[in-house]
Amino acid sequence: MKRVRIGIVGVMNRGGYFVEEFHKNVPDAVVVAGMDVREEHLDRFREAVGGDVFVTKDHRELIERPDVEAVVVASPDRFHEEQGLAVLAAGKHLLLEKPMAITVEGCDRLLAAHKKVGMVFALGLTMRYMPMIQTMKQIIARGDIGEAKAYWCNHYVGKGGHFYFHDWHAVREDTTGLLLQKGTHDLDLMHYLTGEFTKRVAAFGSLDYFGGDKPDDLHCPDCPEKDTCPEAQLGDWPRHFQLCAFRKEVDVEDNHVVIAELENGIKAAYQECHFTPDYHRDHIIIGTKGRLWNDELTDTVRVKTRNGDADAVYHIKGGEAEHGGGDPRMCRDFIRAIRDGREMLTDPLSGRMAVAAGVAAHESLRNGGKVVEVNWPAV
Ligand SMILES: NC(=O)c1ccc[n+]([C@@H]2O[C@H](COP(=O)([O-])OP(=O)(O)OC[C@H]3O[C@@H](n4cnc5c(N)ncnc54)[C@H](O)[C@@H]3O)[C@@H](O)[C@H]2O)c1
Repeated sequence: MKRVRIGIVGVMNRGGYFVEEFHKNVPDAVVVAGMDVREEHLDRFREAVGGDVFVTKDHRELIERPDVEAVVVASPDRFHEEQGLAVLAAGKHLLLEKPMAITVEGCDRLLAAHKKVGMVFALGLTMRYMPMIQTMKQIIARGDIGEAKAYWCNHYVGKGGHFYFHDWHAVREDTTGLLLQKGTHDLDLMHYLTGEFTKRVAAFGSLDYFGGDKPDDLHCPDCPEKDTCPEAQLGDWPRHFQLCAFRKEVDVEDNHVVIAELENGIKAAYQECHFTPDYHRDHIIIGTKGRLWNDELTDTVRVKTRNGDADAVYHIKGGEAEHGGGDPRMCRDFIRAIRDGREMLTDPLSGRMAVAAGVAAHESLRNGGKVVEVNWPAV
């Protein structure tokens, strides 16, 4: 059987994972083209894929190639809309990294474009594919905790300094805010696990640790305080990940508390803090019969019921690969969806609703915590 021919837009870091996975590990796929804005990243892509693989600095050139059947867009968030639209307009299958776009309007334009072509449109909501999350989903579907009524999530982003404040992630213009950039996964899981979308939110948040008055062009290796700064990003990091985390332009929040009402009266709370000492997430779902929660530190999912009938501890296996085992499963599912028309665990509407919840929460916390309604797409 011929392999699905894939082009990657944004070939390093997240894109680098997809290059490896699709080219070397997914049996029915092959990477045939790569696009990036950085020459050195294209050089490393060429080395990884080998042969005379096509490379370009223009995403349109990659998308238009007749030998590219499916495109993975793994560029920074602000390019997702334009590049995703170009893929759909060309009638090609699309795996678009999260968040779907940095505005709700952008997501709606992607939804409308997808409706016209009907190709596979997957979102990088890889956590849905984690064995831990699938176990939780099955427990809820079986009715062990009754009808879900509350969802709480604590997200301890202990690597906030490394991954979110030394480059574009820390600037609103590039992300809208970290509830989209980072929280999209959790807002999506809130919808996925409870089976309901957000109706309204209120939130508080601010920049409590990162940001400051350092020059915007200060890089950690050049800083006179590099030996004492707790956030100095030294060593092997590429220079564009070594901007000072306490520079002036940093304007996203690093500490957020969101409350939400979902359809069907479900109450939700989501906390995301970027300067915790540890890095994990707790998801807690309370139903009419009991409570279900995960523990990433022990790879377990636990159930406690009011009558004790379904009390259990589930030891999760298969979470060793990237993103708790989610990434390889998502990549294989993308190829199966293209090949066999199989439905994926992610869908464009869910991607849009997670962004819409995040945008509404940012609007709330930037306006004194007012209640903001989350609208459905018009299309
Ligand atoms: N699903 C997940 O769990 C997950 C995990 C990590 C990252 N991501 C997403 O992947 C995307 C990339 O994240 P990253 O950390 O790898 O970012 P990054 O800044 O490292 O950039 C990734 C690549 O895109 C390239 N690039 C920059 N501008 C570009 C443009 N205009 N067009 C094409 N390529 C461009 C960069 O040179 C780099 O090679 C983000 O949207 C992020 O949210 C998702």
